Amino acid sequence: MSKVVLAFSGGLDTSVCVKYLQTLHHLDVITLTVDVGQDDDFEEIAKVSSELGAIDHVYINAKHEFLNDYVVPSIKANALYQQKYPLATAIARPLIARKVVEVAKKHDAIAISHGCTGKGNDQVRFDIAIRSLDPNLNIIAPIRDMNLTRDKELQYAEKNNIRISDVAKKYSIDENLWGRAIEGGSLENIENEPHDDAFKFVQQSNNEAGYITIGFERGRPVSIDGEKLEIDSLINKLNKVAGSHGVGIIDHIEDRVIGIKSREVYEAPAALLLIEAHKDLEKLVLTNQELRFKFHVDDQWAWLAYSGLWLDPLLTDLNAFIDKTQERVTGEIKIKMHSGSYRVVGRKSTFSLYDDDAITYMSSSKFDQRLATGFVTLWGLQSSAANKKIWEYKRQNGKI
Ligand code: ARG
Repeated sequence: MSKVVLAFSGGLDTSVCVKYLQTLHHLDVITLTVDVGQDDDFEEIAKVSSELGAIDHVYINAKHEFLNDYVVPSIKANALYQQKYPLATAIARPLIARKVVEVAKKHDAIAISHGCTGKGNDQVRFDIAIRSLDPNLNIIAPIRDMNLTRDKELQYAEKNNIRISDVAKKYSIDENLWGRAIEGGSLENIENEPHDDAFKFVQQSNNEAGYITIGFERGRPVSIDGEKLEIDSLINKLNKVAGSHGVGIIDHIEDRVIGIKSREVYEAPAALLLIEAHKDLEKLVLTNQELRFKFHVDDQWAWLAYSGLWLDPLLTDLNAFIDKTQERVTGEIKIKMHSGSYRVVGRKSTFSLYDDDAITYMSSSKFDQRLATGFVTLWGLQSSAANKKIWEYKRQNGKI
């Protein structure tokens, strides 16, 4: 029989897919689970795969690659889709697609399968990445092809003795080191506040204010409170500390690529803190001109990553610009966290453009205020001229 490689999480959608691929497409299924830091029991997932009758199960630990090639560039790009969503799911998809293509080639599979619905962004990300990497592979998306819905899938799972965990029945969750997305269930009513059971990292257990200092080197986070840490430990630590102060929940209305507006709930304490700290450091060391331009670059970067165009050459082009700006993004940012809120309260950098002598109101100032008079006159030249014309025109035409 011909083979198909299925990107497999062990959840509802992908478990149902195994059965459909076997019975409807008459294919031998190889399941692949890519570890991007989701807190899952991988042995259990392998067991589920074999119970479902997959002929092989592959596990790939891609955490290192995910952090270095996907998460760190996101930090450098201050990547927040619609100024809110740190893109955890979005940036993991092209990496998973790359691994599925590799495994498909290794096993001579004729097709690749994923459990995405036809309503979301993940289908866009998977399909475009797979096609960019190998246009000869067929893509089978059973849930989308058969227009399946969660209630129908649950019925099908029950009928076919497919084991589904209780959390998976309640919400559709996608998790990795960069964050967790929680969808479905009671969250679909946009008037409802999410229940606490939707969250894992964010548990308000600390009522005192807390401080944390994050160190960056060339845009990459490297330390917490002066202690050098590998990026995975650093993110885990931030998730824990910020989460204990109730920091890290995002609840917003998001525009999906296919046009649907959706209510999205995320928890990403480390991502929010790191991006806030990184942005603040950039404000200290980059010039006004660089910052204004980079704001647009960052926004475009987030859109490409969100909308499945990770492999578009423009993203590589933007990364080249961003990396150049990061040469001076070295320093330390101190953040205060308290009952769900967080803000930067201190910063320092060898590349700081902040000049105490210029800004101080005391007599130690080296700034000659008299120079400002001429500057202000010239700066407002055109605005004053335009207003003078408008005023004259109105007066001549009896409008005032
Ligand atoms: N809306 C988010 C995105 O497009 C999250 C998707 C989460 N996926 C899921 N299967 N729960 O990236």
